[in-house]
Amino acid sequence: MKKSILDLNKMAASGEKIVYLTAYDYLTAKYEERAGVDMILVGDSLGMVQLGYDTTFPVTMDDMVRHCQAVRRGAPDTFIVGDMPYMSYQVSDEQAVANAGRLVKEALVDCIKLEGSGPDILSRVRAISGAGILTMGHIGLTPQFAGQLGGYKAQGKSADAALRLIEAAKDIENAGACSVLVEGVPAIVGREITKRAGIPILGIGAGSYTHGQLLIYADMVGLYDNFQPKFVKKYADIGAELQKAFSGYCNEVRAGAFPVDAEHAYKISDAEANKLMEILGELVP
Ligand code: KIV
Repeated sequence: MKKSILDLNKMAASGEKIVYLTAYDYLTAKYEERAGVDMILVGDSLGMVQLGYDTTFPVTMDDMVRHCQAVRRGAPDTFIVGDMPYMSYQVSDEQAVANAGRLVKEALVDCIKLEGSGPDILSRVRAISGAGILTMGHIGLTPQFAGQLGGYKAQGKSADAALRLIEAAKDIENAGACSVLVEGVPAIVGREITKRAGIPILGIGAGSYTHGQLLIYADMVGLYDNFQPKFVKKYADIGAELQKAFSGYCNEVRAGAFPVDAEHAYKISDAEANKLMEILGELVP
């Protein structure tokens, strides 16, 4: 049964941890739903872990719609959050509502997510929520602000910076968000944000106290090895398994060891095979 925002609120209130994982394609979403994750984020990390860009900036709304659709097909019974890519919501409230609406209307996501907490972003949260769309905020290490943050660095490491994040989470909640994702902050900051929240707080690299945990699936299964954030735990080494499988295939094809016709080829009756050879024999000069 697909969880609704009311179910997620109840889980947060009762202390039952919410399990949140990214996915970008049909197959991964299918396995995640089978495993029983509560929420799937189709993140704009898509750009880095699936499309091969160095950053998330080049990801477009069309990319997001296409991948959210695939994930929805793979996980029809899971609460799906679609990420708003760079410059899909920064320009105006109208632009933000129209693009959030595309993710809901064309890809059937349950919620959208956007980064930041400044006055313009609070206005976007109000506008998108006002249009009836569940909206998740995202604060802390926000990749779309990496330039201003001076890179992909942990946030909230001074008392002042931590206080600003605690206030930001409250501002986003008050603007109408249904949830806030906190990324890359010390555990104490995740804890204080969570203690004060009236909505579910999800964390990625924000310690153990948040209502739920998110990881980028390609990190936790060992597929994305360009770099590994401190907060990732590797639950599998699928990258190494793929490498082994692909190398085995290369070796066997080159050695003539694959395919083995008795196992991997389609059958033809002896009678038809003999007939074919007779015909071919007559044709051969
Ligand atoms: O795009 C994404 O996957 C995200 C996570 C990094 C939080 O926003």
